[in-house]
Amino acid sequence: MEKVEVSTPGKLMLFGEHAVVYGRPCIVTAVDRRMKVKVEPMKNQGIEIAAPDVGVEKLSLGVQDLESTEIPKGARFIVAALRNFSRRYGVSSGIKVTTESEFSSEFGFGSSSAVTVGTIAALSWGVGENLSKEEMFRLAYQSVLDVQGVGSGFDIAAAVWGGTLSFIAGGREVVPLLAPRLPLVVGYTGIKADTTVLVKDVARKREVWPNLIDGVFDLMAVISKLAKEVLEKGEWDRAGDLMNSNQGLLEALGVSTIELSRLIFSARQAGAWGAKLSGAGGGDCMISLAEDEEKVERAIRDAGGVVIKVRTGTEGVRREEI
Ligand code: PMV
Repeated sequence: MEKVEVSTPGKLMLFGEHAVVYGRPCIVTAVDRRMKVKVEPMKNQGIEIAAPDVGVEKLSLGVQDLESTEIPKGARFIVAALRNFSRRYGVSSGIKVTTESEFSSEFGFGSSSAVTVGTIAALSWGVGENLSKEEMFRLAYQSVLDVQGVGSGFDIAAAVWGGTLSFIAGGREVVPLLAPRLPLVVGYTGIKADTTVLVKDVARKREVWPNLIDGVFDLMAVISKLAKEVLEKGEWDRAGDLMNSNQGLLEALGVSTIELSRLIFSARQAGAWGAKLSGAGGGDCMISLAEDEEKVERAIRDAGGVVIKVRTGTEGVRREEI
């Protein structure tokens, strides 16, 4: 195996979170905060993981531990990726995996999926298999499901393909949008959301009121389809309207919080075209589209949020020079 370093982008959900878990399309965009993953051969047959950004300074494992269920939290995605890749393609040497992130795993930018895609891609190039993007997606999605059990895979698609995508769960549809760079302003609430808990909460609500919740999902699907058109035309005022409607539906699911609402309303009051939460809700980030980005950023800060500067239209997984 050859020493290889790759990087993958983080992501933000633009439209259709939660509905995407139930087969409706969503729109996701990759952002220019990247996760680096390096793999290198080791002389012994063991596995070493150094992923300080997710709390793993140094973890040494034997090959048999790839099947273990006792892996520390931060390393689980890497171990699942190593296991699924080596089952399928085999790896003959010991491996050292090192990660380095340009974004905190607290933001909800998709550090788990970015690291999973990064590990699969680095192994793929390292052993000369040169997997297609579809195959990278498939293996990474399997690995994420092995670890967390639920998820549409939208974050994996963003890490693999980059850009802005219309996406259907499991990668049944991955369509790149011909969208210009988005005038996106991002505010972090300072609260870490637990995606799995929120997805389960919505599932519980759907069991109690299937028609109501499916109705909400159907409307979200309408929004995602309309959003695809307006984003491609760069009609930001209309995209902002759709964000506001999408936020209303997320409120109907009960996943927004007072902290998110505070930042969302302050962005709108400062003249943003629209604003909504991004991702599962419960915390993490809100997003807005704004002409006067500085004014909206100031309003978000004044409301207690942390502004995270990002650019969209960024490349998916790529090999880095080392
Ligand atoms: O919390 P995040 O940023 O990982 O987003 C979750 C989005 C959901 O639609 C709620 C779940 C999913 O896997 O699509």
